[in-house]
Amino acid sequence: MTLSKQKLPFDPLAPDFIADPYPFYDRLREESPILYDPDWKLWFVSTYEDINALLRDRRLGRDLEGAPKPDPKTPFGKLHLNSLMEKEPPDHSRLRGLVNKAFTPARVEALRPRLTEIAHHLIDAVLPRREMDLLADFAEPLPVMVIAELLGVPEEGRSSLRPWSHAIVAMYELKPTVEDARRANCAVVEFSSYLGKLIAERRASPQDDLISALVEMEEEGNRLSEDEMIATCILMLNAGHEATVNAIANGMLAFFSHPAQYELLKRSPELIKTAVEEILRYDTPLHLFRRWVREGMEYKGLHLQKGAQLALLYAAANRDPARFEAPHRFDITRQDNPHLAFGAGIHYCVGAPLARLEMQVAIQTLIERLPQLRLANEKVEYRQSYVVRGLKSLPVTF
Ligand code: HEM
Repeated sequence: MTLSKQKLPFDPLAPDFIADPYPFYDRLREESPILYDPDWKLWFVSTYEDINALLRDRRLGRDLEGAPKPDPKTPFGKLHLNSLMEKEPPDHSRLRGLVNKAFTPARVEALRPRLTEIAHHLIDAVLPRREMDLLADFAEPLPVMVIAELLGVPEEGRSSLRPWSHAIVAMYELKPTVEDARRANCAVVEFSSYLGKLIAERRASPQDDLISALVEMEEEGNRLSEDEMIATCILMLNAGHEATVNAIANGMLAFFSHPAQYELLKRSPELIKTAVEEILRYDTPLHLFRRWVREGMEYKGLHLQKGAQLALLYAAANRDPARFEAPHRFDITRQDNPHLAFGAGIHYCVGAPLARLEMQVAIQTLIERLPQLRLANEKVEYRQSYVVRGLKSLPVTF
């Protein structure tokens, strides 16, 4: 294997890369599977074997004492500090345990009828138009409504969730700008103040929702602070829809480009589960996550110094020919598909069962209700963001 210190052979922010990053990933995997780019100050890792192993290696983590972090005196920095996703054990285990307890498989499965109802309402609303933006009119509102209901955010507060989330999530891109930071800080202030009020309301009169469940746990055993509770709710609300929106839209685009696979799913609806896994592998919605080296280590003859940072390219792993047969083929019958779209190890996605259910219901409903569904324009464009891979819009007719 080549281990090299050199420049990344592509610009992750360039439009031609964003339009189709996969040939670039192939080159990277073949030529420099682990590459240190001194400009980005990151070790880029692109093979399935390496990413899968490193995600489970406890010498790496999302947090490292003394590592450069967003200033905790800023609203975004405070949120970052209190977010379970940015923590390592024991704090990570404590907070994740509470979320898992509140976010049970039963709670997720119980959502199926409501989810189906929401999906049908969204289609009812666009049906007379015979056209829609599948992203804005369907893929976006569905997960937003579901996660809002799950947490207990009332209808009148929901329209702000998407813009707040967008502003905050932009800080996880490779190179956030000063303007991004300003917007994120404003969004955190507004979002936190809104949730603070909602938490107070639930404290006074609990409901059957996740915010009330977290409040109850806080009161029972002082197991999470108010700041942690707000950060946990913001994380759930943001992570709970950002990627799912794009997973649904990227998946439908994959079907439009592979009509035979769409016809196959229409004929064989029982393939929906493997189809969803294939969508997650084929056009992974979240391309990159970072890890700190918490303890200096040797890996494949390479010394990774404490304090170094790794950029794990999940989407490159999911197209690795060493792990997936014909990785560039979109095959909804694929059986051997242990993709890394939800990560692996202790930070494995908490919401994976919900995301899977949402994708299944979304696609099933589109098939059932819109038999003439097709792309309105030949050309669609991805948003100019890298970590979050999503379309600007997806105009369709039916
Ligand atoms: C298709 C949709 C989704 C994708 C592709 C996705 C992907 C991921 C990935 C890759 C991670 C791990 C990040 C890392 O390795 O550092 C993660 C973590 C997480 N996800 Fe998701 N996710 C999705 C949907 C959801 C939903 C619906 C929820 C909530 C209901 C959710 C909540 C979370 C949380 C709370 C974490 C942090 C877990 C931790 O740090 O321990 N995600 N997600």
